[in-house]
Amino acid sequence: MAAEELDLLVLGSGVAGLSAAVRAADVHNMRVGVLTKGELPQATTRWAQGGVAAVLHDDPDSTDLHLADTLACGVGLCDTEAVRVLVDEGPARVLDLIALGAAFDRDPDGKLLLAREGGHSQARIVHAGGAATGWEVERALVAAAQRGTSALYEHHFAVDLVVEGGRCRGVTATRADGSELVVRAANVLVTTGGAGQLYAVTTNPLEATGDGIAMALRAGVAVADVEFVQFHPTALHHEAMPRPLLSEALRGHGALLRDGRGERFVDELQPRDVVSRAELEVMVSQGIDHVFLDARHLEEFAARFPTIHAALREVGLDPTRDLLPVAPAAHYTCGGIVTDLDGSSSLPGLWAAGEASCTGVHGANRLASNSLLEGMVFGPRAVEAIERGQVGAHPTGAMRAVLGGDPEGGPVGPGTIGGVLLSRPAAVPPAPVPPTEPWADVRNRLQRALTAGAGVVRDEASLADADQVAVDAAAAVAASAAAGPLSPEAHEVANLVDVGRAVIAAAVSRTESRGAHTRRDHPATDPAQRHRLVLV
Ligand code: SIN
Repeated sequence: MAAEELDLLVLGSGVAGLSAAVRAADVHNMRVGVLTKGELPQATTRWAQGGVAAVLHDDPDSTDLHLADTLACGVGLCDTEAVRVLVDEGPARVLDLIALGAAFDRDPDGKLLLAREGGHSQARIVHAGGAATGWEVERALVAAAQRGTSALYEHHFAVDLVVEGGRCRGVTATRADGSELVVRAANVLVTTGGAGQLYAVTTNPLEATGDGIAMALRAGVAVADVEFVQFHPTALHHEAMPRPLLSEALRGHGALLRDGRGERFVDELQPRDVVSRAELEVMVSQGIDHVFLDARHLEEFAARFPTIHAALREVGLDPTRDLLPVAPAAHYTCGGIVTDLDGSSSLPGLWAAGEASCTGVHGANRLASNSLLEGMVFGPRAVEAIERGQVGAHPTGAMRAVLGGDPEGGPVGPGTIGGVLLSRPAAVPPAPVPPTEPWADVRNRLQRALTAGAGVVRDEASLADADQVAVDAAAAVAASAAAGPLSPEAHEVANLVDVGRAVIAAAVSRTESRGAHTRRDHPATDPAQRHRLVLV
């Protein structure tokens, strides 16, 4: 089919993108295309372990409790309205997935098994294969998308948004052989995930290079909350990259954290920012580069967590006998493209959902297992808004930080967060000559700089050091672009540079510590900075 005929082009093939594509094709008969730089199943979603947080059984749980836990974890920056949508619509979206064939773990009577994770006051996490939930969600969605969508563009790299007459009309892209094309669509939904690859130590796959967020930044689309990069406290301390994740479900199941002396040092079920900071303090004070997860006392480890058990055995660890070395690793980009409650960005025709978006549900720190949930709720909401004929953003959800007030022009109300606008970092002039070193080396240097300067803890000087490396990389990209078309590897570095500089700019501007953003030089939370930093 001709690309011009698409009603909706979805960029990315994770839970947000494919939930949207399946809804658009199966329910509304839209002509949908899915474009991804890899193959359909190759999204970050399949790496998600713990599960999906959703209130499927009331009593003792309730959506009010899920809402309260999410708000507490977000340290004052969640949009209450957006979280209400998330917790209320989540259970129905889980049932949609089950109807598509996703098999979640059940007890012998067929009742869904529910796990607990950090920051949750109740056991409410549905899971599959023990801790292989993302894999199962992705499997079910890929099968449905392959049946229903009109055009699949695998191994296509989306380079930039096509903007005509103030509206997004598609993307420019390159094929695997380097040839270029324009894919045109009435609506473009960005679901390209986060930018964990900004860091040298991450649980994210190689593809997580912030491509959609970078495209949005270059097009002047509002992006917010990017200073909040969540570090997962229990990534296996091992040279494998991405780092094997030891799911938070293990701590929910009773696994304990121990320092170098074998002592416990934190409540293991605190939110991730608290646990990661506690680990870092112990590591610094004891001069060690990891702590330990103790799962030796857990019953039936292999049966409950078969994939984690297998991964550990592969590296010679036996969780029933060994303490498991763990350390924080970059895990989740809490911010992204600002959207209203229906996924509309500040550019008409451009929508965003999932980790690439900033809907306002995560605030300063995402609650465990709210990520798959966010994708499956807000991806389909964008489709419904397109079907209704919505053009452009409404001042709802996180978009209030950009548009302000309510539709009648009233003030930003309780539970909604105002915005402070920042200019996105200025373009960097090209270096005198294009780089001769491999792009992998430029990327590694950038990752090391962000890890050292903009990691779990940062300060003004460390952020300036990281920015200098990012500026040098930007100059190398600019010189290379001036000399000819960029390769996909170079495009990924370009995107990491753009997102990295946005992270640094926001982290410099936020002179307080809040959630996943910890400033060594500003350790207190400042009530006057309870706003979103919006890059435009
Ligand atoms: C985990 O299983 O610990 C990760 C799940 C998440 O990121 O919410």
